[in-house]
Amino acid sequence: MRKSTVSLSVACLTFATVSSVVLSGQPAANDGPRYENGTHLVRPDDYREWTFLSSGLAMAYNEDQPAGASTRPQLFQNVFVNPSSHRAFMETGRWPDGTTFVLEFRRAATDAEISRTGRFQTDRVMLEAEVKDARFPDGWAFFNFGQDDALAEVAEPLAGAQVARCIECHTEHTAVERTFVQFYPTLLEVARQKGTLKPGF
Ligand code: HEC
Repeated sequence: MRKSTVSLSVACLTFATVSSVVLSGQPAANDGPRYENGTHLVRPDDYREWTFLSSGLAMAYNEDQPAGASTRPQLFQNVFVNPSSHRAFMETGRWPDGTTFVLEFRRAATDAEISRTGRFQTDRVMLEAEVKDARFPDGWAFFNFGQDDALAEVAEPLAGAQVARCIECHTEHTAVERTFVQFYPTLLEVARQKGTLKPGF
């Protein structure tokens, strides 16, 4: 009796595991995007536990601006990606559907007691996100959470100049698909090996 209960539960467990692998083609990952009403992205509050790709400092995206000429306060830009998509990229050099990125902007401060000239990060001032999602016309969607909105509406290409710029810049200047892999050193190496860099990189 006890033995048959055990073997039945083992059988159920095996079936559940096998069927979830078979149905989705790969083990179910639940770290992708969460939407409300289909197109409003819920801010992924655990993104600080995701895979960290890199930090940029004062990355003004303006080609005309001479190096070091910015008068705006400098910001750090930290990039995170959901862990299961990061693992997939390490194997293939491509992003699977559902890949979610967070770009976090933090103020830079200097003149700390222990280091007068070094720069370190302080308050978060803005959060942006980007999702590879085949439901959207371009296959990618961009979101702006401002300083701390809990929900962000998908940026429609025709909705305003700011959004058109997200897509345009992430199409014309990116090294892999719509992403700036040229600035993420560990990924750049993988993309080179897998031959997934766009021509010109
Ligand atoms: C003029 C160019 C430009 C525009 C416009 C732009 N970005 Fe980016 N974006 C970048 C660069 C360069 C990076 C590389 C990371 C960094 O800044 O340190 C980046 C990185 C990102 C990332 C991290 C993943 C990746 O693609 O590498 C997200 C998320 C992101 N941007 C969202 C947005 C959103 C949302 C908008 C529009 C509201 C936007 N971006 C507009 C240039 C741009």
